[in-house]
Amino acid sequence: MLELRDITRAYELGGERAGVFGVSLDVPAGCLAVLAGPSGSGKTTLLQLAGLLDKPDAGTITLNGQEVSGLSERARCDLRLRRLGFVFQAFNLVPVLSALENAMLPLQLQGLPETEARHRAEAALDRVGLADRKHHHPGQLSGGQQQRVAIARALAPDPLLVLADEPTASLDHAHGGPLMDLMADLSRERGTAFLVASHDPAVIARAHRVFRLADGRLAEAP
Ligand SMILES: Nc1ncnc2c1ncn2[C@@H]1O[C@H](COP(=O)(O)OP(=O)(O)OP(=O)(O)O)[C@@H](O)[C@H]1O
Ligand SMILES: [Mg+2]
Repeated sequence: MLELRDITRAYELGGERAGVFGVSLDVPAGCLAVLAGPSGSGKTTLLQLAGLLDKPDAGTITLNGQEVSGLSERARCDLRLRRLGFVFQAFNLVPVLSALENAMLPLQLQGLPETEARHRAEAALDRVGLADRKHHHPGQLSGGQQQRVAIARALAPDPLLVLADEPTASLDHAHGGPLMDLMADLSRERGTAFLVASHDPAVIARAHRVFRLADGRLAEAP
């Protein structure tokens, strides 16, 4: 599903060279892959490249058999909207919208009619166990519930790949494990690929595949 080949993205700042260097990895369909590594090891940098939010200095990114690193910004934006889902540490929900309206947003941006967007967003919220919280606003939900809304929003367009940056970091320990169980179940039942950046042992324990980064390089073969 996702293939990175010899990816380098270097930042030069004050004589220091940081970033990611020569990284190759594969995340097949239905795989929950975790990018582990200490702070500053390059996890977010790699997720932004895989999420087509940034371009590598060298190397290729292939998504579902298509080479995407050289595409125009417009084509990359379209792929992000239709084929990728994003989950962030801080949930990034729109506070003035209900859970349902938040989950409908990417579908409406794709141009889906409102009734279909509503239907699909409702199904996604049902699947993550929030059938009875659809009309709550983010401020009326717990952290774990907000993160499940974010997962429903990411999955409602039926993406090929979901990218999650430290999705459990704002949750207490009791909520991190169940959230990852949900992602593992979703990857299996829908064939969605997940690439999750985290140093949380509860996240790493649920990975189908673990990639360990140190100083911007892959430390261990999967
Ligand atoms: N825009 C930037 N400009 C300069 N350096 C950057 C930039 N973004 C990241 N870096 C550097 O690249 C390295 C990797 O950063 P990155 O954010 O990918 O790490 P991370 O593994 O996600 O860390 P954390 O666990 O703290 O989120 C760090 O040394 C960081 O300082
Ligand atoms: Mg990071």
